[in-house]
Amino acid sequence: MQKNLVVENCFEEQKEYCNKIKEISKKIYKKDTPLAFVRTYGCQQNVSDGEKIKGMLSEMGYSFTDDEKEANFILFNTCAIREHAQDKVFGNVGALKHIKRANPETIIALCGCMTEQEHVIERIKESYPFVDLVFGTHSLQYFPMLLHNVMNNNERLFDTTSIDERIFEGIPVRRDGAIKAWLPIMYGCNNFCSYCIVPYVRGRERSRRAEDIIEEAKELINSGYKDITLLGQNVNSYGNNLEDGINFAELLRRIDDIDGEYTIRFMTSHPKDATRELIDTIAQSKHISSHFHLPFQSGNNRVLKAMNRKYTREKYLEIINYAKSKIKDVSLTSDVIVGFPGETYEEFQDTISLIKEVGFSSLFMFIYSPRVGTPAAKLPDIISKEEKKRWFKELVDTQEKISARVLSNLVGKNMKVLVESKGDKSGLVARTSGNIVVEMDGSEDLIGKFKDIEIIESKNYVLKGKLL
Ligand code: 5AD
Ligand code: SF4
Repeated sequence: MQKNLVVENCFEEQKEYCNKIKEISKKIYKKDTPLAFVRTYGCQQNVSDGEKIKGMLSEMGYSFTDDEKEANFILFNTCAIREHAQDKVFGNVGALKHIKRANPETIIALCGCMTEQEHVIERIKESYPFVDLVFGTHSLQYFPMLLHNVMNNNERLFDTTSIDERIFEGIPVRRDGAIKAWLPIMYGCNNFCSYCIVPYVRGRERSRRAEDIIEEAKELINSGYKDITLLGQNVNSYGNNLEDGINFAELLRRIDDIDGEYTIRFMTSHPKDATRELIDTIAQSKHISSHFHLPFQSGNNRVLKAMNRKYTREKYLEIINYAKSKIKDVSLTSDVIVGFPGETYEEFQDTISLIKEVGFSSLFMFIYSPRVGTPAAKLPDIISKEEKKRWFKELVDTQEKISARVLSNLVGKNMKVLVESKGDKSGLVARTSGNIVVEMDGSEDLIGKFKDIEIIESKNYVLKGKLL
């Protein structure tokens, strides 16, 4: 078994660059606290990376702004999962041209999953000359050095080709919230689902050491965080590359043992590695939420095989039914792709029948998007975009009815919720253990607290509750 090379306190070396940047900033921007604008696209893993980037920027003396025009440093932390996500980034990067023209000393940077792709790099080099710094997911820990080099040498820098599969601890984090926190437990992915770009842009699977994760969980709980989500592309294979024999269920048990009032969530699970041990652990725990997000992608076995998912519809339903039988009030959610190359309407109907059989409380639905370099992108795809949109609408309409039914079954129940924020118009927004949003009346001092409520009404995707 391979043991990861864990570099502790890698940030010590980077701190020197942070200090140098503080000095250079004073000269260029004529202020002690320059402003940074950071926008993150994509999944929670990327949001978590964004929090590290902001942590490093704080260390360099930056504070933050939501207005690109007043920023001295602009960074887009990008996502490559679907073409639409990339198009959005390119559109927004294009708009920065005017900012650079008005303020030539503003530094513009791109990082994240998009920037790990050769063809994207070429496009940025040629068509976006005002972008100063581009770095990939493997270079995150060297961000201060890279930014320093751009500022010092006054030339464009691309650092995206290096594949660094080590784990870097000690990077400062500036968390976006005070109640909910993201806690990465592993990075990368080994599964190579045939449609997915992630293994190519985030590299091979590598797990953080259990003691580092538990330490971070303790710090979060002690500083008042109430809702902690463990992150990984496939958390069920946590520990596969470690020598200490701790698997994901064991990691969960150790975190669950930490004293305090908090909820633990995790995402994402891969059905091929979801075990009965994991379900039993959730069922017996004090703090693990009764929410299970288990992406099935397709309800048809031929399509699942073509997707290289390595489980069948029957195996998926077996683990779901086990979860239903063991976890009280379990809330099930999933991801699904419509219009995979070669999928027929009859095969798509197996997806419809699967969602009816399971009864997900909500579903993340996507139309297949070809990604350069993935095996699926080379498959013949004869179904038109319009046809796929019709299937997608059928899926959305079906799920809407299912969600409405699942949520209406909760009316009349008493539940513990975590109050998260003020509502848009009035009242409060809370979340059930099953990750369902609840609107309720109450005073703002309840924010950040667990409260017992009665569910009094349900809409399609939202519940209404009343304090008990
Ligand atoms: N096209 C459409 N959806 C995709 N997903 C991943 N890759 C693609 C793609 N090429 C979806 C899957 C995954 C979720 C994060 O995004 O459903 O679970
Ligand atoms: Fe997250 Fe995947 Fe998008 Fe990267 S490509 S940000 S891993 S969803």
